[in-house]
Parts: sequence; C-alpha cells; structure tokens
Amino acid sequence: MKAELFANETNVPGWLQHDTQHSLCEFLLANRCNWLVTGAAGFIGSNLVETLLMLGQNVRGMDNFATGHQRNLDEIKARVGAERWARFSFQEGDIRDLAACERAVGGIDYVLHQAALGSVPRSVKDPITSHDVNASGFLNMLDASRRAGIRRFVYAASSSTYGDEPNLPKREERIGNPLSPYAVTKLVNEIYASVYSRTYQFNSVGLRYFNAFGPRQDPHGAYAAVIPKWIAAILAGEDVLINGDGESSRDFCYVGNVVQANLRAALAENLTSSEVYNVAVGGRTTLNDLFYIIRDSLGELGFSYPNKPVYQDFRAGDVRHSQADVSKAQKQLGYAPLIDLRAGMVEALPWYLGFFKANQNIAA
Ligand SMILES: NC(=O)c1ccc[n+]([C@@H]2O[C@H](COP(=O)([O-])OP(=O)(O)OC[C@H]3O[C@@H](n4cnc5c(N)ncnc54)[C@H](O)[C@@H]3O)[C@@H](O)[C@H]2O)c1
Repeated sequence: MKAELFANETNVPGWLQHDTQHSLCEFLLANRCNWLVTGAAGFIGSNLVETLLMLGQNVRGMDNFATGHQRNLDEIKARVGAERWARFSFQEGDIRDLAACERAVGGIDYVLHQAALGSVPRSVKDPITSHDVNASGFLNMLDASRRAGIRRFVYAASSSTYGDEPNLPKREERIGNPLSPYAVTKLVNEIYASVYSRTYQFNSVGLRYFNAFGPRQDPHGAYAAVIPKWIAAILAGEDVLINGDGESSRDFCYVGNVVQANLRAALAENLTSSEVYNVAVGGRTTLNDLFYIIRDSLGELGFSYPNKPVYQDFRAGDVRHSQADVSKAQKQLGYAPLIDLRAGMVEALPWYLGFFKANQNIAA
C-alpha cells in the first residue's frame, strides 16, 4: 500500500499505510475537497490537518492558541513538505466570535470541529469559560456551517457524556447524568446537533472520543492527560502519580483511529439524522497496567525507570471504568480501530523522546 500510494515517502502516518485504509486514501487522493479543522494547533486537530494534507486535500485551520501551539503547525509543515503545505491556510481566531466562524466556513465542504477547552478539572475550576467556548462556541460553528451549506459537520463529542451510567461497554443510546461542567458542555453539543437536524434538516456527526493519545498531545500544564503526563514524569526521572488504587480502567485510543473516524464520518453517505458514535478501540486497560506498558515500552527504547508509581487520593468526578462498544461506528461508518494501546505506544513514544530531547527534559 505504501509503495503504491506514497512511494518514497518517509513521513506517512502509520495507520494510513494499513491495507484496510486503501480505498479511503485512494478516494481522497482522487477527490480534492476543502476542509476546515478547528482546533488545528491542538493535539487531535493537528493530526487531522497532517493526514488531510498527506491525502492531497485543501485545509484551513482555525485556532486561538488557548491550549494549542504554533510548534504543532511547524511540525506538520516540516513533515508534509512544501508542496502539500501550500494547500494549508490558517485563520487565527476564536470560536466565541461568530463573525470569525462565518469567515472560517466560507468555501468549505467539510468541517471537523475540534476546538474546545478539554479537561474535567479545568471545567470544575472555571465552568463559565468552558461553557462559553465548548457550548456557545460550538453553536456559533454549527450555525455558521448550516448557513454556509457545508456538506458535513463532524464534531468532537466525548465519552464524558456517559456520566454516571454504570454499564459496560458504553453504548451510544444509554447515557447517564453528566458528572462535570465539561460533560454538560459536550452533552449540549449533542442536543444542539440533534435539534438542528429536526429543525433545519442539518445533519451532523458527533464522535465520542475515549481517552485519545498520540504524538503532539501536550505533556505540560495542570490539565495534561494521563499518558503524556506520565511519559514526561518517567523521562524526567520524577514520580508517576496515580489517582486512587490504579485499578480504574480506560479505553485508550490512538489518535490514528480518531483521525480515521473523522474522515469516515465526513464522507459517510445516506445520513438521514444527526448521529453520535463511540470512537475508541473497545478494550479496557487499568492505570496500573498502563504504567507498566509505558515503562516497558520506554525500556525497549533504551530508557530505564526503576521507580514504582506513587498512589494518591481518587480524583473527584472521575469515573471508575470506561470501555466503549464501537460496533455502531463499525457498522455505519466502516470504522476499524486498527491500532491498539501497545501499537499506539510504538508510534507515540519515539515522538515524545524526540520532543523531550529537543527540550532537554530527559533525566538520563
Ligand atoms: N484528547 C481526548 O482524549 C479527548 C477526549 C474526548 C473529547 N476530546 C475533544 O476533542 C477535541 C480536541 O481535543 P484535544 O485533545 O486535541 O485538545 P487540545 O487542547 O490539544 O486541542 C484543542 C484546540 O482547540 C483550541 N481552542 C480552544 N479554545 C478555542 C477557541 N475559543 N477558539 C479557537 N480555538 C480554540 C486550542 O487552542 C487547541 O489547539 C476537544 O473538543 C476535546 O474536548 C478529546
């Protein structure tokens, strides 16, 4: 596959080279469209931009750099090469600004809306700002997209919408009460999407991501996600802190799977209503196991860490276990979660090693 579609290329994202992606890649390489990625300077957004450019698409990115970084865009530029980069344009802007959203969607076929303030603890500390960005900003983007007549609006929903629903695996139609202001904002997105379908016949797709990880996920800051935070701690020779007893579990999902789901959701035909889909692998890994997977994978890359994790109190608002049923996305979108946690680590860890070496944050 790589030889056929990406001859002599070195920086092709791993999952794109998988045989099952051949028809998706071929379709996009043969059909150049105009895409808007909001949150383009962030973790998932930058991975979307990179893949779309690799597949010959025209891409506009929008971001206000609240949690995203120019360095992510610079990295894409270096990876995709000058010719593809020439098909990228960037609009620095805030999704809370309706006029900026209207400018961003002009001439666009597909919107992949990723911009939001992530993190449950951030929303507990400052619910007003999380609401403004995640709920009001979402509505701006949804409405601007509807009025611009774009072909498909795909947005980042969240597994936090399951709230206190106790059953595993999580199925799309069975949700509980939200457990944080962040979860409310993501639920509001789904409600608006469904109302826009009924009121304006504007159908969109919400993708409920479960614990995504991979290159360019920010390891720094108070609200860093668990995988980059632990990698940073191990590489710096610091303690790895586990909230609770470590037996809580999550369905960790490599970003390549998330990107694939977005492309498939955008291109899916015959969508007669707004839909939501779980985007995960369908597995479940405890935090204790996660620690040893990261430690051992870094060990294979020549980096040894003799310490054990340090346990602290459970964190308020965290659910105990999370695992997705991904069969709806498999059946309706053709989604195939190709990369499990270990395979994802093989792709992500070299990136973190390079990142921390460049920033001289490595202990040994
Ligand atoms: N990473 C996960 O595991 C996960 C899980 C569930 C849902 N999500 C959702 O996926 C999306 C992407 O998350 P991510 O992990 O890439 O986070 P991220 O913080 O890396 O990316 C979010 C991007 O949105 C931008 N942004 C924030 N506020 C903005 C505003 N007002 N205007 C314009 N841009 C703004 C940020 O600068 C950043 O670049 C978010 O909607 C998030 O809620 C992520």
